[in-house]
Amino acid sequence: MKVLGIDIGGTGIKGAVVDTKRGVLKTDRLRLLTPHPAEPDAVAGVVRTLVRHFDWEGPIGCTFPGVVRAGIVHTAPNLTPSWVGVDGADLFSEAAGHPVTVLNDADAAGVAEDAFGAAAEVTGTALLITLGTGIGSALVVDGTLVPNTELGHLVLRGADAEDYAADSVRERLELSWEDWGARVGEYLRLVEELIWPEVIILGGGVSKKASRFLPYVQTRTRVVPARLLNQAGIIGAALHAEHHVRKARRRS
Ligand code: BGC
Repeated sequence: MKVLGIDIGGTGIKGAVVDTKRGVLKTDRLRLLTPHPAEPDAVAGVVRTLVRHFDWEGPIGCTFPGVVRAGIVHTAPNLTPSWVGVDGADLFSEAAGHPVTVLNDADAAGVAEDAFGAAAEVTGTALLITLGTGIGSALVVDGTLVPNTELGHLVLRGADAEDYAADSVRERLELSWEDWGARVGEYLRLVEELIWPEVIILGGGVSKKASRFLPYVQTRTRVVPARLLNQAGIIGAALHAEHHVRKARRRS
């Protein structure tokens, strides 16, 4: 199946057509800037622009950088508070002129890594942690996603963990790879004591540079970089939409 995947982030909104059977992009990826402030209508406008750019008529899957339950946004820490309570699925479907499914961005990356990436061969619990503007998490147990785990907001050193170990913190404080790697390690040690996964997969744009900081990330769990890198969100969003389309077909 071909599905348009859209990945909404704090700085960029990216889209591409995905071949969901093979987990590959069928078109170039288009990246537009996230509007500021990232109000719902402004973000929906960018979604509409992407749909028009790809001249897309089929199913669409979208990620969102916050908690999403049955299409409704419950948190949006790195966008604007006005998102809370918005029906993201309805808003984007109206903007796109076609049905759009919505899921958390880290969950989308987890689904994609499970199907085609670093979690594909894992038996048991795989935990994906995305390090970007914030910290996202996806818990996948033998291929089943437990959505909205939000482990980026665990309390570390008395504060929100993402304010200590996200990649945006490395950039803002100009931390060395060694110092930031040590922070990531400290955070992952907190996580592994609660979840005890078989493997921790590190995603987000910075996972491309894993060789620079992984040597400083000390954990008892095996830690590996994500394989799909900046395509994971788009591919996961598309897989999620495909899942919904197939389920709806079975029901009808
Ligand atoms: C949000 C998560 C999101 C992560 C990465 C966190 O601040 O709470 O829902 O997955 O940022 O965007």
